[in-house]
Parts: sequence; structure tokens; C-alpha cells
Amino acid sequence: METGQEVQAMPRIGDPAPEFKAVTTQGEITFPADYSGKWVILFSHPADFTPVCTSEFITFASMEDKFEEAGCKLVGLSVDGLYSHIAWLRTIKEKIEYRGMKDVEVNFPLIEDITMNVARKYGMIQPGEDTTKAVRAVFFIDPKGTIRTIIYYPLSLGRNFDELYRVLIALKAADEFGIATPADWRPGDDVIVGPAGSCGSAKDRMDGKEDMQCQDWFFCSRKIAKETVLDAVLKK
Ligand code: BEZ
Repeated sequence: METGQEVQAMPRIGDPAPEFKAVTTQGEITFPADYSGKWVILFSHPADFTPVCTSEFITFASMEDKFEEAGCKLVGLSVDGLYSHIAWLRTIKEKIEYRGMKDVEVNFPLIEDITMNVARKYGMIQPGEDTTKAVRAVFFIDPKGTIRTIIYYPLSLGRNFDELYRVLIALKAADEFGIATPADWRPGDDVIVGPAGSCGSAKDRMDGKEDMQCQDWFFCSRKIAKETVLDAVLKK
């Protein structure tokens, strides 16, 4: 169907993060090159001066040190302009309290994207939801600049930032230990042996690995202590 709009393929898990240069509240960035060697979460919000987005920014900014400790930078984006971003972030700091969090300063860069150039590259404009605002998209990008997880939320639904932190730690643990993580996994829970999609008989996989428990050939797990996971994934 002709829509008169440029059609762009949406990035997928495993793709290189699309490149762009942008103006942000912390100066210009060249993405993802400026973040090479680091994990980075690129996320979009629909609009400045809106309540759900405000609650999200207060929450994310309050957790910035925690993400930093896990070696992950945060970069926000909306299709608003720089002066709107600056005024909104100042208002948040001076006036808004959410769940006991107040006086919150947003120190990570917030991209201005009035042209929607970046939002379109990342599939953040989803016309069935809204033609002029970005949905709540979250891209986890690894130190090599590869997209590792994508999560989209609609305009009406504020994100769960504990879940975003859990995803980051699980991705890093999967890389570090060559494992996969089962439903609702948290550090200290048993992990699934072998990366997702790997195969091999239980016997092969059990040889020399006494800590592995197999309930059937396709369902083997092992223990990794919480401290071992955290030691490996934090400050890296
Ligand atoms: C909000 O963040 O509150 C919001 C933004 C756009 C549409 C609906 C809600």
C-alpha cells in the first residue's frame, strides 16, 4: 500500500545497531561508535512533559548508577527538540516526585529527533499506535554494537525497569558462562546448560560435569552461585 512514507526495515536481534549522529542533552553523539566496548540501552519515549514518561525517567535516572556498575550506558530519545528536553528534565528535577524519588537529575543523554530520522531507523514509529510519537522501545546493544534484545511497549504502558536490569544481567551471564537462563531467572537461580538451540546427548554433556542435573536429554541445568554471576557481570 502507498503511504507516502519511506519504508524502512526494522532492526532485528542479531543485527548491527543502525548508525547515526545526533544532538543530545549531553552534546553530540555518534552511535553506536561512541559506546564501543560497552553495553548500551537505547530507549525511546513518546513525548516530553507527559506523565507516564516522567515516571519512567525518574525511575531510570534513579537506577543509572546500578546500570553503570553493570557496565551499561543509557541513551534516551524522543521526537521532541533539545529545548523541550532541557525544560522537561529541569522540571522533573525541581518539581516532580514519584514513589519517593525526588530531586532526580537525568545525567544520561536524551536525543532530540524532531526529524524522526533515528526513530524511523530503529522502528520506533509504529503508525498503528501513533504516527507522530515514538512507542516505548528498548534496544540492548552489546559491546560489539550488535542488537541483543528488543522490547516494545505501547504508549499507555510504563516499563518495568527491574525487568530491564534483569535482561541486561541475563544477557551478560549468557555470554560469560555460555549458558541460557530459564523463565523468571535471577542471579543465583539454576541456569540452562548450553546456549539456546544447542544440542547433544545428555551423556556427552554430563561427562565431567557433575554439577549438571538432567531431567531429560533436552532439559539440563546447573548451579551458578549468585556471587559468581555478579562478580562476572558487574564492572565489566
Ligand atoms: C505518557 O507518557 O503519559 C503518555 C505519552 C503519550 C501518550 C500517552 C501517555
